[in-house]
Amino acid sequence: MVRSAVLLLLLLLPGLAAWCRAEVPPPTVNISLDEDPEVRWKPLLTVFDLDYLKKAGAEVIDSTIPKWVHHAVIPIVQSLEKYVPQPYAGEIRGLASHMGGNLADSIMLNFAYEVSAFCTSIIAQDKDGVLYHGRNLDYPHSVLKNLTVNVVFLKNGEVAYTGTTFAGYVGLWTGQSPHKFTISGDQRGTEHWWNWWKNFMSAFLYRRSPVSWLFRETLEEAEDFQDAVMRLSKTPLIAGVYYIVGGVRAGEGVVITRDREGAADIWPLDPVNGNWYRVETNFDHWLPPPATDHRREAANKALNATGQDHINMETLYQVLSLPPVCNRAAKNN
Ligand SMILES: *[C@@H]1O[C@H](CO)[C@@H](O)[C@H](O)[C@H]1NC(C)=O
Ligand SMILES: *[C@@H]1O[C@H](CO)[C@@H](O)[C@H](O)[C@H]1NC(C)=O
Ligand SMILES: *[C@@H]1O[C@H](CO)[C@@H](O)[C@H](O)[C@H]1NC(C)=O
Repeated sequence: MVRSAVLLLLLLLPGLAAWCRAEVPPPTVNISLDEDPEVRWKPLLTVFDLDYLKKAGAEVIDSTIPKWVHHAVIPIVQSLEKYVPQPYAGEIRGLASHMGGNLADSIMLNFAYEVSAFCTSIIAQDKDGVLYHGRNLDYPHSVLKNLTVNVVFLKNGEVAYTGTTFAGYVGLWTGQSPHKFTISGDQRGTEHWWNWWKNFMSAFLYRRSPVSWLFRETLEEAEDFQDAVMRLSKTPLIAGVYYIVGGVRAGEGVVITRDREGAADIWPLDPVNGNWYRVETNFDHWLPPPATDHRREAANKALNATGQDHINMETLYQVLSLPPVCNRAAKNN
């Protein structure tokens, strides 16, 4: 039997390596794609406290976007609303109204989350050809930990796809299309929000997709691993990123290094030649990482020590929880 799975690890407070493991699993909500985009996220309020959501949202915005910029961009963000495609525009508008906030904040929140996702993704294959795909998340805002939610997207009452995200954010950075494929995303490089903001502007003028929205389209529409890899490689994006994709058959594992226009590199598993795993952090795999960032090497070392004979969900989880792998020290700000 061949199966694939996504496992998510959460990073808690900065600098406390011992806290790498998530203490409590995040809540799960059903979001029905059959419902109008403006109301479909309402079930969030059954698992999150409204006041906490408001407070946390404000904190993310305050810590990501300087106050004067925040004020300056409000009118721009409001006029951008007409450029945001469906269903995201409707979903963001709905979230703003469920949370009693304003639309500009809700849009900004959805883009504030896009910055600074430092993380490690691993795709590995055991001796029987079973694939394991894992990732950890190392976000700069500690409040995000409490906003983490597993989402089951339903269509006609059936599970269409699942993902893990943050309450208030409509995109995904981790997702799974049952019996087809899994995707995780890692930020590429160390772009700062002020550069990123320019991308945001041009995004809508050039109609490029945010990285996290292409997740949803791919999870919803791609037929299989091959199709998913094609879409994730070709669809124009507003920023570079790494997409790590796992399938359900032996050999179906790949790291796609994305430029805005298309794939800069495709790095598949190659188990026949001993390459039974691929580790991606936040740097191009063919270049050495910055001298201060030891995550890639630590993960490689731990995977080598584990061995292909012993890779499974539990050992992969252990590798992803290891202090240097699960460590935000690499973030330079
Ligand atoms: C979520 O949807 C699944 C599939 O339809 C269903 O089995 C489950 O009971 C639902 N859970 C909730 C909390 O509504
Ligand atoms: C997260 O939630 C817990 C329990 O509700 C709370 O004690 C903690 O202060 C929250 N953490 C942050 C960073 O908001
Ligand atoms: C892991 O093993 C591979 C294959 O034997 C080797 O090329 C690589 O240098 C090892 N990496 C580390 C960090 O030990």
